[in-house]
Amino acid sequence: MCGIVGYVGQQQALEIVVAGLRRLEYRGYDSAGVAVISDGELSVRKKAGKLANLETLLGSDPMPQSTTGIGHTRWATHGGPTDSNAHPHVSEDSTVAVIHNGIIENFAELRSELAAAGVHLASETDTEVVAHLLAHELPNADDDLPEAMRRVCRRLEGAFTLVAIDRSQPDVVVGARRNSPLVVGVGDGENFLASDVAAFVAHTKQALELGQDQVVVLTADSVTVTDFAGEPVEAKPYLVDWDASAAEKGGYDLFMLKEIAEQPRAVADSLRGRITKDGRIQLDETNLEEATLRSINKVVVIACGTAAHAGMVAKYAIEHWTRLPVEVELASEFRYRDPIVGPDSLVIAISQSGETMDTLMALRYAKTQGARTLAICNTVGSTIPRESDAVLYTYAGPEIAVASTKAFLTQIIAAYLVGMYLAQVRGTMFEDEIRRVLLQLEDMPSKVDLVLDTTEGVRELARDLANSTSVLFLGRHVGYPVALEGALKLKELAYMHAEGFPAGELKHGPIALIEDGVPVIVVVPSATGRADLHDKVISNIQEVRARGARVIAIAEEGDEGITPFADHVIRIPVVPTLMQPLVATVPLQVFACELATAKGHDVDQPRNLAKSVTVE
Ligand code: AGP
Repeated sequence: MCGIVGYVGQQQALEIVVAGLRRLEYRGYDSAGVAVISDGELSVRKKAGKLANLETLLGSDPMPQSTTGIGHTRWATHGGPTDSNAHPHVSEDSTVAVIHNGIIENFAELRSELAAAGVHLASETDTEVVAHLLAHELPNADDDLPEAMRRVCRRLEGAFTLVAIDRSQPDVVVGARRNSPLVVGVGDGENFLASDVAAFVAHTKQALELGQDQVVVLTADSVTVTDFAGEPVEAKPYLVDWDASAAEKGGYDLFMLKEIAEQPRAVADSLRGRITKDGRIQLDETNLEEATLRSINKVVVIACGTAAHAGMVAKYAIEHWTRLPVEVELASEFRYRDPIVGPDSLVIAISQSGETMDTLMALRYAKTQGARTLAICNTVGSTIPRESDAVLYTYAGPEIAVASTKAFLTQIIAAYLVGMYLAQVRGTMFEDEIRRVLLQLEDMPSKVDLVLDTTEGVRELARDLANSTSVLFLGRHVGYPVALEGALKLKELAYMHAEGFPAGELKHGPIALIEDGVPVIVVVPSATGRADLHDKVISNIQEVRARGARVIAIAEEGDEGITPFADHVIRIPVVPTLMQPLVATVPLQVFACELATAKGHDVDQPRNLAKSVTVE
């Protein structure tokens, strides 16, 4: 949700800022803009649409050379995706330029105040008020931009990352953060600010985490952090543990294709070091105290979108292994319904980005109720793990495509490890049972690899179905969240009506959607592992086929029972039932990616979306 880059140093700021924006474009691509200071003047270029439009503009209308600059790529909230709403926004006297990620909730009141003071507002955004407020505060702050920023921030409500430059302080970049992400990259004679380390990892791996309500001041040689009152605070340093190449396409046409292909490695990395040689789980890294795990009486998962689907899959496993009730809550709904959560609950927040505002707010609510909190997260140093009592990182590596793929599989792995750990600590499984499940998990990278080796049929089918108007997905047990995930992938990438249902629920209403030729993709339970569910799903298939559906079954190798009932069968390796989501989801990812490609869509940056949703 908006990408932010700031630079001050010895190099040409524009090049560094635009390269950073390219790496952050997944966060929003409604418009892009940059500002630099040169010869005591601010220079701004901004353009609606993708970063490429801004780059074209910069080609025809070049900017002056400068070693201080800021840049922004936008996911629109207040005001449409137009040139005038694009950031940076500039004060009336062209002194200050500001970029922003988040929502300033009291912006209407501030706009009225500025309008009453005779300020002309040139955009419909909430951000623009900050540029004018900064210009008004500068004289009260002895013309010191950091102090003006602190004064303004004290007046703002909502979530914001702000980065500003002032033409009269050309060697300074000032950032501020409340709720929305902002990290500092510490270089040698140069420093960076960005929403995500991806923007500067090619230049430095030394990063600083900023906390809540902090202001950071960068010069080429210094980084100073204070709170909003001006008191010095210490930012926590950390080392980025991946290379810039991990955030590049690496020979693939699309980030999504690369990330789908990386899944065996991602799953293996997320298991590594967490299973001992004698077949036990060790999660010492999380600081989860065994006494706490023994004392809880329920698990609550809070997450959004794909991460919530991973939580739904995990519910089946954790309840089975621990006999603890597991509730899976959409984070955006959680705190608004007086949920039953307290000191006896283990709340697991699942988030790839670690910045999803709905999940963060749900986490904070759970903490106020005394719950013990654990983050399952892919982004080291992000807000959700920082604010949780404990964290288990997934090692998927940077996920750039907006549609989540490898994050999903690794979230399931991490949640399964937590479930097994709970079972181990609480003694709800025998040691040999635990060992058996761990061996199954360790077998999954090679099973996912097998699926990836045989995707040609899925891709052909996707091209064949590209003109369908609607696709339904059915599953039972763990196949149900897989069906939801398949439908979500298709909606977000192919912009088609797609819905996932529990197969048994269809007859209670949704079956009315079936008409001649409607594709219905069915995740078929293992014939050997869950013959009971398998047979029920065959009945559900017959119900839709009788009404004209075109049935595509995702079924395990050797399940010949399914053949007479399906128009197409996509084969997946035989794995135990609780492991099936890890293999059954992959063809659905490939299907959505290929179908969207056939429709000519921008798969990595689908319309209206952004990778990291940092507004509620
Ligand atoms: C799925 O493809 C989406 N990108 C989306 O549903 C995503 O999973 C959701 O917004 C949660 O994001 P998070 O994991 O970063 O919290």
